[in-house]
Amino acid sequence: MSTQPYVPPEQPAPESPHVPEIVLPEASVAAPAPVDISAAASGRPIGPTGRPMPLFPEPGPRETHGPARIIAMCNQKGGVGKTTTTINLGASLAEYGRKVLLVDFDPQGSLSVGLGVNPYDIDRSVYNLLMERGTALEDVVVKTDVPGLDLLPSNIDLSAAEVQLVTEVAREQVLARALAPAVADYDFVIIDCQPSLGLLTVNALTASDGVIVPLECEFFALRGVAMLVETIQKVQDRLNPELTIDGLVATMYDSRTVHSREVLARLVEAFEDKVFHTAISRTVRFPETTVAGEPITTFATSSGGAYSYRQLAREVLARCPGT
Ligand SMILES: Nc1ncnc2c1ncn2[C@@H]1O[C@H](COP(=O)(O)OP(=O)(O)O)[C@@H](O)[C@H]1O
Ligand SMILES: [Mg+2]
Repeated sequence: MSTQPYVPPEQPAPESPHVPEIVLPEASVAAPAPVDISAAASGRPIGPTGRPMPLFPEPGPRETHGPARIIAMCNQKGGVGKTTTTINLGASLAEYGRKVLLVDFDPQGSLSVGLGVNPYDIDRSVYNLLMERGTALEDVVVKTDVPGLDLLPSNIDLSAAEVQLVTEVAREQVLARALAPAVADYDFVIIDCQPSLGLLTVNALTASDGVIVPLECEFFALRGVAMLVETIQKVQDRLNPELTIDGLVATMYDSRTVHSREVLARLVEAFEDKVFHTAISRTVRFPETTVAGEPITTFATSSGGAYSYRQLAREVLARCPGT
């Protein structure tokens, strides 16, 4: 797998000469999130990020569906919780009555496996949707056991797309075109990216309205963020000016260690309100859910992990107006 970031071709655009320290590009700062700033005054408990934990209200139901907010779950590092967050954020949003499409955009097919779909049993995958003119979205979408939660599955075929796309016209926009018909029917489309900054990930960022970055609570996890932010910035400059960072979410959090809390404090220092108040604790229940092939919200519905992802879903709904 390529570790070199794919750089979208230059249109006349400003070039940053070096990888900056963790500095959030201006353009990626969304309208201020409607976070309860009275929290400190109202004596809310301090959350894992060291800030008062706002109350996120139970979201109301939706009578109609769409247009979808498309979110790329992105971090070029593997094992940080992208797939786990895609499944469980998606399932939590579906529990709150949202129609959700999850896109497996990693040739390893972990998202598909995590939802009980064997990547080698499927007739058509996201690869066919990208590369074949005759394949429509509804030919590839499968329903999961969670009501309101659908999946575009993937398997190793997708790794060929990374190479084949290079010779396509408008090669960065292929996924955006493929997902366009989903926008009217769903409230959220969440793309589970592979661990690289290659052409597939650039396609995901080009197709998206927002990016969520899961980060494990380790100091070295912070190092790759500058390069990710730089890639996001290049996609904003050259391909998708509307792209915003919806937030960074800490995973594998261990409240007993000073280390976890220090990493979160550093993250908040660098990214301020972009860091979600919700942190996902480290628990063996998550690997168990992969074996079970279902989200934690149905596998262990009253566990801490299920609670955290529902909380994250509420936070996402509060941050993204109109969802
Ligand atoms: N909060 C967590 N606590 C413990 N294990 C986790 C947690 N989140 C994910 N995992 C496990 O860590 C591994 C990597 O997670 P995954 O979501 O597949 O990461 P990525 O998609 O970024 O590679 C998986 O085995 C998963 O079950
Ligand atoms: Mg993954």
